[in-house]
Amino acid sequence: MKKYDVQSCQILSKKQLTEDIYDVVVRTELARIAQPGQFAQIYVEGKTLRRPISICEIGEDTLRFVFQVRGDGTDRLSHSQVGESWNILAPLGHGFSLGDLSRKVCFVGGGIGVPPLLEAARRFGSQATVITGFRNKDAVILQEDFQKAGCRLILTTDDGSAGEHGLVTQFLPEDCQAIFACGPTPMLKALAAQAEKKGIPCQISLEERMACGVGACLGCACKLKTQENPAGWKYGHVCKDGPVFDSREVDFE
Ligand SMILES: Cc1cc2nc3c(=O)[nH]c(=O)nc-3n(C[C@H](O)[C@H](O)[C@H](O)COP(=O)(O)OP(=O)(O)OC[C@H]3O[C@@H](n4cnc5c(N)ncnc54)[C@H](O)[C@@H]3O)c2cc1C
Ligand code: FES
Repeated sequence: MKKYDVQSCQILSKKQLTEDIYDVVVRTELARIAQPGQFAQIYVEGKTLRRPISICEIGEDTLRFVFQVRGDGTDRLSHSQVGESWNILAPLGHGFSLGDLSRKVCFVGGGIGVPPLLEAARRFGSQATVITGFRNKDAVILQEDFQKAGCRLILTTDDGSAGEHGLVTQFLPEDCQAIFACGPTPMLKALAAQAEKKGIPCQISLEERMACGVGACLGCACKLKTQENPAGWKYGHVCKDGPVFDSREVDFE
């Protein structure tokens, strides 16, 4: 099989997790070549550009996607029915480099940044502490899935209506040997700083508006630190060089 491919994938299940978040599982052979942290470009009828959605979970012949309705494209996807098919280009991008699965690691996710962490966290099982943050109790998702994988869970909400009252960045355990994160940029920036202070590696998954999704259109540029030129930075592409980057590479300024 190629590195990535296009397939028509039948929808096996669809659930509504919150007011605007949907959980869809499709049957596809693309699952065999997918890695945690990679994403798919999903065709939406009537739209020129596919919509990028992270792979949340990888089964033997299934892929799971958890997405929030943001605009017309994701709204249309949310109206798909079981038995219909999605045309999917996947798996795309550079996912998480998991390394030694016996290390004690932390997964940190904010809001809709939580789904891309599930498959990687599942592979670490009880070695993983998963710290997730949401606006309030009604926005909480995927806790049972991380629990089923044996992960230790720390739930936080901005208003204290579920779990701990506070920010995910306040709850990083002392014995954490590596961080994997996805969520809002200020959260990622704070985690990158904490990782640097602790001297531990930190991989972060970034989001940018995308067009082609395969490195051809230069539509998803992000700033990366480099010593290759005097300016000290260069453009990278979230779809091809990422979406997962070593936090030390990313120029947050
Ligand atoms: C690599 C990658 C992985 C992603 N994974 C997920 C996921 O697992 N679950 C999920 O819910 N969403 C994910 N997204 C975001 C998702 O692609 C966008 O929400 C979606 O494309 C919006 O399409 P739309 O037609 O519904 O909205 P549009 O009408 O295109 O836009 C509606 C609003 O969403 C904003 N928006 C659109 N695209 C993006 C983007 N890429 N990043 C941030 N804001 C955007 C627009 O600025 C606008 O405010 C991911 C994005 C990328 C790049
Ligand atoms: S979306 Fe085209 S280069 Fe990344």
